Amino acid sequence: MKKIQIAIDGPASSGKSTVAKIVAQDLGLIYLDTGAMYRAATSVALLKQTKAPQEIISYIKENPISFKNTKQGQLVFLGSKDVTSLIRTNEVTNHVSFVAALAEIRTFLVAEQQRIAAEGGIIMDGRDIGTVVLPQADLKIFLVASVDERAKRRYKENKLKGIPTELEKLKAEIAERDRKDSTRANSPLKQATDALLLDSTGKSIQEIVQFIEQKAQAL
Ligand code: CDP
Ligand code: CDP
Repeated sequence: MKKIQIAIDGPASSGKSTVAKIVAQDLGLIYLDTGAMYRAATSVALLKQTKAPQEIISYIKENPISFKNTKQGQLVFLGSKDVTSLIRTNEVTNHVSFVAALAEIRTFLVAEQQRIAAEGGIIMDGRDIGTVVLPQADLKIFLVASVDERAKRRYKENKLKGIPTELEKLKAEIAERDRKDSTRANSPLKQATDALLLDSTGKSIQEIVQFIEQKAQAL
């Protein structure tokens, strides 16, 4: 298969990373979780107690963000430190939209994402992949689902992981993060004009994977 680029964008918990990981494995593509990069930058802001983009960026330059695929899943590192669990904490989740709205942070991380994309066939998920990071992507998917369903999916996931959560609170947090991500000045969450809209409400992971793989194989 030729070196294809697939962009998956959409709101929080619409299934982007779950689906992208499976498609990457099936089609032999690199998988890049750009949300994990914004989350790692947010963990630096919290660690250093700073909102200054240059401070966050210089820390990341000294301690680069990297990914490691293991049997347990994809691990995320900042330098030699494993931050896989840290970047999924509520504290990071509740601050990530602020850090992701900082223009200098976006410029820095988008350059990293484009450098990784130059290495080979790739599937990337995020908010601005089809619009900004990979505007020439061969296939662009805008994956959505109702906020009720997305909150229920995250609730179920947290329950399995033993993370205490309240469904209504989770729903409000997801809706608020979507609002911030969609209304920010820099690279807001929006469907690229040439992206396919895919509503996963009531659909299984396998159905979504199949749809994307069929489109990719037809390229
Ligand atoms: O998995 P979940 O939907 O909770 O979020 P994520 O993909 O890990 O992304 C976390 C946050 O990073 C989003 O709410 C956005 O604020 C930001 N983000 C972004 O601005 N641009 C991207 N390409 C990816 C994520
Ligand atoms: O990456 P994003 O935040 O868009 O979502 P995710 O982390 O891939 O998916 C959130 C949760 O929804 C996970 O627990 C998935 O297993 C689940 N999911 C689902 O139940 N049905 C789907 N069609 C897609 C995802």
